[in-house]
Amino acid sequence: MTGEVPPADRAKSAAAAQAVQHIKSGMRVGLGTGSTAERMICHLGKRVREEGLNIRAAPTSARTADLARRLGIDLIPPAEVRHLDVTIDGADEFDPTLALIKGGGGALLHEKIVAAASERMIVIADASKEVSTLGAFPLPVEIIPFGWQSTSALIGNALEKIDIPGREIRLRRAGDAPFVTDEGNHILDLHLHRIDDPRLVSRALNRIPGVVENGLFIDLCNTVIIGHADGRVETRDLSTGAVEQTHVSLAGAERLCPHL
Ligand code: 5RP
Repeated sequence: MTGEVPPADRAKSAAAAQAVQHIKSGMRVGLGTGSTAERMICHLGKRVREEGLNIRAAPTSARTADLARRLGIDLIPPAEVRHLDVTIDGADEFDPTLALIKGGGGALLHEKIVAAASERMIVIADASKEVSTLGAFPLPVEIIPFGWQSTSALIGNALEKIDIPGREIRLRRAGDAPFVTDEGNHILDLHLHRIDDPRLVSRALNRIPGVVENGLFIDLCNTVIIGHADGRVETRDLSTGAVEQTHVSLAGAERLCPHL
């Protein structure tokens, strides 16, 4: 990888390269969405092509499915997903308990379904995603388009009853129009600043008619792989408490993912 590649991108590539070492032939693998996940999919495609790694994968978005297909990764049809060995995905924030905020890329619904079907979820990230308390990143909430203004108002009421510093709610846009998810829904981004009790917030949101799912991932992720720009990688396994430091080579990583 060359000097022009931004350090954050090199860090993402390092985490991605390390993550695919957890994949063995015969596994059913959930593929996340976003720039870190796409780097991981490129590394996985290389192992499929060069080592004959035999896996089947469940993509979490149309964009991920398209990339995986182009790289020769065999895809599991949605109706056949059920049980997966592992899902590897990015995150917008993770805390010390590996609770996550996800959905910055708008794929939180499929991401949560795929993660919930997986025995293990590995999050890959650069160090900027680590926080002591979730909430600086706006929390994405997927809502159905019908009556979204009313859903938004109900979310505002629910937030008033919870002790959190921010309550600004913004409808995500794509240019002049509302952003539309792969399920044809919209996303509200909740600027909460700080989420002290993610379970409480998640429960309160998912009770509201019109809310499909929220971007808080609790008790789903067991492992985080944190990449650094110089190729250092730290893997933390929550279930065993193990922390492992490794180093990966970033040579050629840029060419592996030319579209990023
Ligand atoms: C998409 C997601 C992404 O995993 C999250 O936004 C992180 O993206 P990136 O790896 O590009 O920083 O949740 O819905």
